[in-house]
Amino acid sequence: MNRHRSPPTLEIIVLAAGLGTRMKSRTPKVLHRICGVPMISLLLEELDRALASPVVPMRATVFNLVVGHGREEVMKEVEALRAAGRIRTPVVFTVQAEQLGTGHAVKLALSRDEGPEGERKALDLAPPSEIVAVFNGDLPLFRADGFLEFFDAHVQHESAASVGTAVLSDAGGYGRIIRAGAKRKFRSIVEFKDATPAQRAVREINGGVYLFERKLLSSALAKIRNSNAAGEFYLPDVFVHATKGKKRIHAHVFHDPVVLAGVNTMKELAEAQRELFRRTAERLMTEGTYLQEPGHTYVGPRVKVGHECVIGPFSSIIGNSTLADGVRIGSHCELSDVTVGESSVIRNGTVAEGSVIGRECAVGPMAHLRKGTRLGNNVRVGNFVETKEASIGDHTNAAHLSYIGDAEIGSQVNLGCGFITCNYDGVVREGKRKHGTVIGNGVFVGSDSQLVAPITIADGTYIASGSTVTESVNEKDSLVLARARQVTKPGYAKKYRKAKS
Ligand code: UD1
Ligand code: MG
Repeated sequence: MNRHRSPPTLEIIVLAAGLGTRMKSRTPKVLHRICGVPMISLLLEELDRALASPVVPMRATVFNLVVGHGREEVMKEVEALRAAGRIRTPVVFTVQAEQLGTGHAVKLALSRDEGPEGERKALDLAPPSEIVAVFNGDLPLFRADGFLEFFDAHVQHESAASVGTAVLSDAGGYGRIIRAGAKRKFRSIVEFKDATPAQRAVREINGGVYLFERKLLSSALAKIRNSNAAGEFYLPDVFVHATKGKKRIHAHVFHDPVVLAGVNTMKELAEAQRELFRRTAERLMTEGTYLQEPGHTYVGPRVKVGHECVIGPFSSIIGNSTLADGVRIGSHCELSDVTVGESSVIRNGTVAEGSVIGRECAVGPMAHLRKGTRLGNNVRVGNFVETKEASIGDHTNAAHLSYIGDAEIGSQVNLGCGFITCNYDGVVREGKRKHGTVIGNGVFVGSDSQLVAPITIADGTYIASGSTVTESVNEKDSLVLARARQVTKPGYAKKYRKAKS
């Protein structure tokens, strides 16, 4: 720290242009989701958290994201992340149209003459930083505290080039850290493809995270060549030139190797997801959540859980979901971007997305709350009830077998078994394909009734069972009968049976 009077400035280059060929998928690699969150977002959020920390003083300038394969989608995701305030560090993009290797990607990122006008302007706002960090974009398990520790070590060692390493029992296809001499001094990084059998036997690997003195990085990148097994410009070759130039190098060993797990295949994606779910489960249990089967509970990293909550086995809660105090989630539930209010119970097999559930509600078993569902307090949504774009008022019940779509339902309403909002009649009205149902407060809808939308039902209306209501009811407290009148013929059953025998 002594070399710098004021905290050093830092630019973080994140490499996210690669094809991800080994994933065998059309989705850009860094957009593959882990616990419902794209890999690139997990990494950027952790790095952003580190940058906000007062523990290691540094002044972050920008995230410089190298994009190429699927660049529009990647940029959209990262822009949305920033717009949502999940990362505060400004972001600029460098386009690497052809993926010629990690070294090539960093070279482009450092070059201020690349990219369209807008990008150049954004970069120009930030003067070149003293330190450049480079992160592979496929590191979803990396953590903020690891970055702080790495950065601190880099500064303490007065290093010109640092690399994060880990010792693995099976080093797989990672680049190997080659050390020599009695002091096991760092010599170079050799890619698996280029390594000799003896080098492949090395268990210390390059984790794909680096810190460089800017000047050294630029001059070394100008020297790297692509005469290797992959025919690519390797970023790790920068260390060859740093060693030759007698620069200080620090190979920093991360003692928890899992944080450096790179995801290149679907198997590695699944393993990373398992680890992230495990990590969240550990945190929740420390905070007092009762996970009945922690090994089979899938809670995403952004999920917030209050006190005294219980989550049953095989349930997954992902996205920006929040459980207030005293919430109980049964087994085999799937919640994504759902807010659940205090003391509500979500019973087995319920699927919910993009929904808000109030206090003391009972949902399920096997309810389906689709996007745009808003339940007030003390609402009951029972088995085989599907809701979509529906707001349901306090103390309203839809206890069994219903479809409630594009609806605004008041409070103290009873929706009987088999109630259906007929929101689609194949006719586009006022530019809308689906039509709205409005039900006032205190309405009683008898079982097996349908409301054909668009339709409005006034407060206190009583709809008789088996009604198909096609016209709005404007008068409060009306009785609505919209079914055929019953015909009863005494003795006819006997005659009928005789005729049939
Ligand atoms: C890389 C390292 C390897 C290290 C491993 C750690 C190189 C040459 N090898 O191998 O030593 O052990 O990471 O996980 O760096 N990318 C671009 N542009 C390109 C090529 C790649 O942006 O032209 C991006 C990818 O999108 C990815 C990252 O760089 O996010 C790393 O590329 P990847 O192909 O995953 O490298 P590895 O083979 O894992
Ligand atoms: Mg990789």
